[in-house]
Amino acid sequence: MNLGNLAYEKLEALSQFTDSGEGITRLFLTKEHREASNYLREIMEKAGLEVEMDNIGNLIGTYRTSKNTDKTLVLGSHQDTVKNGGKYDGALGIILPIVALEKCIKDGIELDYNVKIVSFGDEEGVRFATTYLGSKALAGTFTEDLLERISEEGTSLRDELINFGLNPEAIGECRLKENVTAYLEIHIEQGPVLEHEDLAIGIVNAIQGSHRYQIDIEGIAGHAGTVPMKYRSDAGIGSAEVMVEFTNYIEKLDGIVATFGIVELSPGSINVIPGKSRFTLDIRSLDNNLIASSVEKFKEIVSKVAERRKLRFKVENTNIAPSCECSSRIINMLEKSVEDIGYKPFNFPSGAGHDAQEMKNLTDMGMLFVRCKDGISHNPLESVKSEDLEIASEVLVEFLKNYN
Ligand code: GLV
Ligand code: MN
Ligand code: MN
Repeated sequence: MNLGNLAYEKLEALSQFTDSGEGITRLFLTKEHREASNYLREIMEKAGLEVEMDNIGNLIGTYRTSKNTDKTLVLGSHQDTVKNGGKYDGALGIILPIVALEKCIKDGIELDYNVKIVSFGDEEGVRFATTYLGSKALAGTFTEDLLERISEEGTSLRDELINFGLNPEAIGECRLKENVTAYLEIHIEQGPVLEHEDLAIGIVNAIQGSHRYQIDIEGIAGHAGTVPMKYRSDAGIGSAEVMVEFTNYIEKLDGIVATFGIVELSPGSINVIPGKSRFTLDIRSLDNNLIASSVEKFKEIVSKVAERRKLRFKVENTNIAPSCECSSRIINMLEKSVEDIGYKPFNFPSGAGHDAQEMKNLTDMGMLFVRCKDGISHNPLESVKSEDLEIASEVLVEFLKNYN
């Protein structure tokens, strides 16, 4: 069986570990995280790796060269998914390295350096409104205040880690102590560019920055029939106005996107004027200054709408991941590997966020993208071809052979 089919089969197997409902829902520190980690441990061990779980819930498989060196290449991606996501976002970047490294070991190819394959526990930030918890711990950028983050179910990250059998007080020790010389992440593109270019793979040259906010708007709940429009303080319609006005502003700019992904109105009754509204804003661009000026504009719009509609408001930043460039050393090595297997290198930026952004704080970072069907991701319809997985695996095997 070729590496593409092997990877495809393992990705199918990993996709069993999901909460009920459509697509894949595998959240950080849940039963599904545990089950997926057990499966990944099994296939990492079969591939010949030593496996451990660190105190933030990252599963790490280590290959040790017999050469006298502490140089370590880190490969990986995240095991968690968004709610009702797909089978490949994250998972692909764990499975492909296992398959490729196993091939090198079986073929008796001795690498000149050690390799760690990481299945990061949390990248999506679904449960604790903050992203990259796994890669932050590995890169040494995890800060203790994050332990007080509260999940949707009202539990703290600290307590959830303890319930999972981990030690939150020891997260500082997760930072990799080896001589890490690079981090390489393989990922589905999650957009339509490669499909339009008719290419199976692409090399990432930069990653968009993303800022996330939670907005609370408070008005006065009241009877839907008795309060004339001009006397209302309607938190729901105030929020809708903010979202439409800001979206119109963003649509006139180039190179920036904004999304209101969660909107909750309360009390949430057909015959009650919403007294409270809570919604999220996710705003992204390659240009960190453009994000900053757009956020200022957003705050201006909220303030203006709130004043006109007699509402109170709070805009709270929950996450910042600055945009960053990939390492030119890794880009050059990927280009060479792509050419070596007979393909044309194609470089472009990533619209999605990745653990690689956080790993850049530790070491040189690079990424390889794999085409996905119709550019669809964060959706149960996410799909990749095993032929494309085969090409990506070949590039990775070549990269591993040439890396030094
Ligand atoms: C991660 O998938 C993100 O870009 O939100
Ligand atoms: Mn994702
Ligand atoms: Mn991802």
